[in-house]
Amino acid sequence: MSNFVVVGMQWGDEAKGKVVDYIAQQADFVVRYNGGNNAGHTVVVGKEVYKFHTVPVGALHKNVTAIIADGVVLDPKVFVGEIEGLKGRGITADRLKISPNAHVIMPWHRIFDQLEECYKGDTKIGTTGRGIGPCYADKMSRVGIRVYDLIDADRFRARLKSCLDFKNAIITKVFGADPVNEDEVFAEYSEYARILAPFVDDTYSILYKASVECANIVFEGAHATLLDIDFGTYPFVTSSHCVAGGATIGTGVGPTMIDTVIGVAKAYTTRVGAGPCPTEQINEVGDKIRERGNEYGTTTGRPRRCGWFDAAAVRYSARVNGATCIAVTLLDVLSTFDTLKICTAYTIDGEEYNEFPADAQMLEKAVPIYEELPGWDDDISEIKSFDALPENARRYVARIAELVETPICLVGVGPRRDQSIILDPEVLTM
Ligand code: GDP
Ligand code: IMO
Ligand code: MG
Repeated sequence: MSNFVVVGMQWGDEAKGKVVDYIAQQADFVVRYNGGNNAGHTVVVGKEVYKFHTVPVGALHKNVTAIIADGVVLDPKVFVGEIEGLKGRGITADRLKISPNAHVIMPWHRIFDQLEECYKGDTKIGTTGRGIGPCYADKMSRVGIRVYDLIDADRFRARLKSCLDFKNAIITKVFGADPVNEDEVFAEYSEYARILAPFVDDTYSILYKASVECANIVFEGAHATLLDIDFGTYPFVTSSHCVAGGATIGTGVGPTMIDTVIGVAKAYTTRVGAGPCPTEQINEVGDKIRERGNEYGTTTGRPRRCGWFDAAAVRYSARVNGATCIAVTLLDVLSTFDTLKICTAYTIDGEEYNEFPADAQMLEKAVPIYEELPGWDDDISEIKSFDALPENARRYVARIAELVETPICLVGVGPRRDQSIILDPEVLTM
């Protein structure tokens, strides 16, 4: 048995999709445990580019059962579009399973997401506008609609009515916006329910049985540690448990069943949306990283904020995730820089801090303390072994491992499935 969690160590888009896809070659199951269609995970196979938002990337592998587990919030409209898009490209989703406990993103969640952002003005989070926060808020307030409710017409009608009586009162009386029409939502979502119902299964039992039978399971984390609702830079976070522990909360698989946690970190830093990002470079360095790395959001297309690698932040992530090893991705993007900088600590109000303060207000004031390393000019994107990398690239990766206090198992040198250099095949073998 091998149960691997793949988790983002920064603010998202670290190439988790690519790393999950690599490990999924040996897997029986790939499981999404958190978040919703605010995620955008890319896999590049030859010339084909696949962007996943709700469906686990394991769906690309014929022998893998892909699971959307309990901790996910599911937008049925997006889900239906995604499986149709995959089918159109010859990928059947017949091995896909959805937990009946997963909460459903309803039209009012998107409305509230946008209204709340508008009302926040300067303090807005810069959400993806997909209704994620309001859906998780309803889950916690115990007024959400679950997949169980959606696929049973009588339950759905009753639940919809009680939700909308309350939500429409707020939408109309507080925000002065138009109410959501109950009959229209019922008709539209009943059609999604019809398509979704055959995928619904007891995913907790399937995963328990699989674990007992020594199957290989990959837990595909969405978003990342610094966007985690508890351990991220609150309030500039998403609303789910992004850390590795989320894999157990969001699936019903107990913590003792997890063997390996692979943290994924870019060789530099990016962030989308608002919130502190101490190493951000709003200058030609940031622009160069953005252009070389094609750093535009997979979900919203927004330009990502780019900057130097923050070792203090990633060390914090390695600790809260209990990372076994780290995959350092997009190293090729750093080719052609004369000098590279790594943030090792911060100065906050004149005092030196060696550890990452997850408190957004402190982090906002953090001035990075940098160490400089020499860069390299060569194109490294077709290099297949660590030893063949330019010496300065090897030194850069080795220094990251040292500062983050975690070994490196994989280095990404390009977006394609075959552009990964494996440093530790043993740790990546399920
Ligand atoms: P995720 O959300 O963590 O799965 O990451 P995204 O898919 O949102 O963003 C990662 C982007 O980097 C995608 O466009 C990938 O195709 C691309 N990518 C992944 N690994 C590499 C790499 O090693 N080098 C380069 N240049 N691009 C990569
Ligand atoms: P993947 O899985 C990057 C960010 C948003 C915003 C904040 C809250 O592709 O790495 P939300 O819509 O979740 O309420 O927005 O979180 N965010 C992401 N940034 N990658 C993601 O997912 C993200 N998911 C959410 O930009 O700042
Ligand atoms: Mg992404």
